[in-house]
Amino acid sequence: MTEEFIIDQVVGKINSSVGPVSTLDLARDFDVDHQKIVGAIKSLVAQASATTDKYLNITPKEYKQLSLTPEGIIISKDGSHESRIFKAVLDSRPNGIDQESLLKCIPDASMAKIGFSKAMSNQWIQLDKETRLIHPKKEAINDEVQQLLASIAKMSLEDSRKVDSKTVADLKKRKLITETSIKYMIVEKGSEFSVKIERPETDMTTALIQSGEWRAKKFKDYNFDALGLPPDRGHLHPLMKVRDQFRQIFLEMGFSEMPTNNYVESSFWNFDTLVVPQAHPARDSQDTFFLRFPEKANRLEDRALVDRVSLAHRGTMDGKWPRGYRYEWSEDESSRNVLRTHTTAVTARMLYELANRHKLSGDSRFKPAKLFSIDRVFRNETLDATHLAEFNQVEGVVLDEDLTLGDLMGILEAFFEKLGIGRLRFKPAYNPYTEPSMEIFSFHSGLKKWVEVGNSGVFRPELMQALGLPETVTGIAWGLSLERPTMIKYKIENIRDMVGHKVNLEMVHENPLCLF
Ligand code: PHE
Repeated sequence: MTEEFIIDQVVGKINSSVGPVSTLDLARDFDVDHQKIVGAIKSLVAQASATTDKYLNITPKEYKQLSLTPEGIIISKDGSHESRIFKAVLDSRPNGIDQESLLKCIPDASMAKIGFSKAMSNQWIQLDKETRLIHPKKEAINDEVQQLLASIAKMSLEDSRKVDSKTVADLKKRKLITETSIKYMIVEKGSEFSVKIERPETDMTTALIQSGEWRAKKFKDYNFDALGLPPDRGHLHPLMKVRDQFRQIFLEMGFSEMPTNNYVESSFWNFDTLVVPQAHPARDSQDTFFLRFPEKANRLEDRALVDRVSLAHRGTMDGKWPRGYRYEWSEDESSRNVLRTHTTAVTARMLYELANRHKLSGDSRFKPAKLFSIDRVFRNETLDATHLAEFNQVEGVVLDEDLTLGDLMGILEAFFEKLGIGRLRFKPAYNPYTEPSMEIFSFHSGLKKWVEVGNSGVFRPELMQALGLPETVTGIAWGLSLERPTMIKYKIENIRDMVGHKVNLEMVHENPLCLF
C-alpha cells in the first residue's frame, strides 16, 4: 500500500465515522503497520496546516503493551515451573521421588529450582523427612500463572490494559512479561475538515482577481521570519575593482582624472604631438589599428599647433633647436585615424589644454598639475596567454617648473608604496616622447624575481613646447597596464580567463574585493 493510498483510506474513514477513531483501530481495519497510520495522519495535518490548524482534532494517547518474555512463552505453553514439578511428583506416586531426580524434569536447572521452591511454598508437594522422598500434598492444582500468560498472549492490544497492576508487577518481577509503551492517537474531524485538502494560494494573481475566485481562496500567510532571497545585483569585474583601487590611490595623492572617453584618435594626437616619427615601427600596421572608416580626422586643431608639431619633427634647418628628425613631416599622415595605442594620447591633449589655460590666465608662474587616467588602449598584438589586442593603461602625469628625475623617482616610490610594492629599481629605456626614460622594476616576493611594473620618463622639451607649454615647465609621467597587477593579485594565469567571451562569470561573482 502506497503512502497516498493509506492517506486516502484514512481520510475516508475519518470522514465516514461519527465519533473519534483510534489509530490502533485504523491499523487493524486496514491491516497496516500502526506507524504507517500515524505517519499518514501527521502528513495530513502538515498538508492542511498551510490553511488551517482545525483540520483534525487529535488526542495523543499512550498505553503499556504487555508481551511475554521467552521464559513467559515457555510457561504459557508447558505450564509454570511449579506445576511441572507438581506433575512430576504426582507421576511418582506411590513411591515418591528424590529431589535430585525431580529437578531433572525441567532441563533448565535454575527454572527447576524456582519451580521446586514455589511448589513447596504453595503447599502442593511435601518432603518426607525420613526417606528424603517427595510426595504430592494435593490431588490437583490450578496453574494460574500459565492461564494468565496464555491469556495475555492471546489478548487484543486494548484488553491487555485491563490486567491489574499488581499482577503486572508480579509477572514483570518474575521476568515473564515486559511492558512497552505504545503511543497512539484518537482522531476526530476538526471544524475545518474536508475530504480534499485545499492548497493555499501564494500569490494574488491577475487571473484570481479578474475571475473573482480570490474571494473563496485561502492565501498562504506571510512568513516574516524568512531570510529571503539575496537580491540579484551586479558584481564588479576584477579589472574594475583594481581600477577603483588605482583611482583611489591617485585621488589620495591629489591627482585629477583626465577625460579618456574616446577610443578613436588621430595619428596627430596619438603619435605626432608625442614626437613619434612618422616612420617609427610602432606606427606600422603591425602594432596599430588604423581605421578604414572614417579613415582621416576632419580637422587638425589650430594651425600654430600643427606648425609647431611639424617643426618638432622636421627640425630647424639652421642648426638651432629643435634638431628634429630631419624628414618631410606629412600632415596627411598625421590625420589618419587609429584606435589609440596608449593613453598618452589623452595626456598630450591635456598638456595642450593646460598650456592654453596658462596662456589665458596671464599668470607668470605655471600652476602645477597632477593628472591620471585609467582606460582602454588597442594594439595589434599576437594574442597569447598574457596579451590581448586591447588592454587598459594606468597613467600618471605631473607638471611643474623645475621638476627633476629625482622627483619622478620619488613620486613613483610613493605611488607604488601605496600599492604595497616597496622596493623599486629603475632601468634606462627608450620612448620617443620621454628623455630620459626608465623602466620600473619591483622585486616580486612570490615569483622571487625582479618584474617590470611600469615605464616612465621626462617628456621631451620639444614635445612640451610644441604643445605650447612654457620652457620652464617639466612634465614627468609614467604608465603601466591594469591587467598585469590584476592577474598577479587575483592569481589569474591566462588573460582569457579574465577578459573576453571565455570568462567564467562565477569568477566575477566570487572574487574578493580588496587586494592591495
Ligand atoms: N605610453 C607608454 C606605454 O605605452 C607608457 C608611458 C607613459 C611611458 C608615460 C612614459 C610616460 O607604455
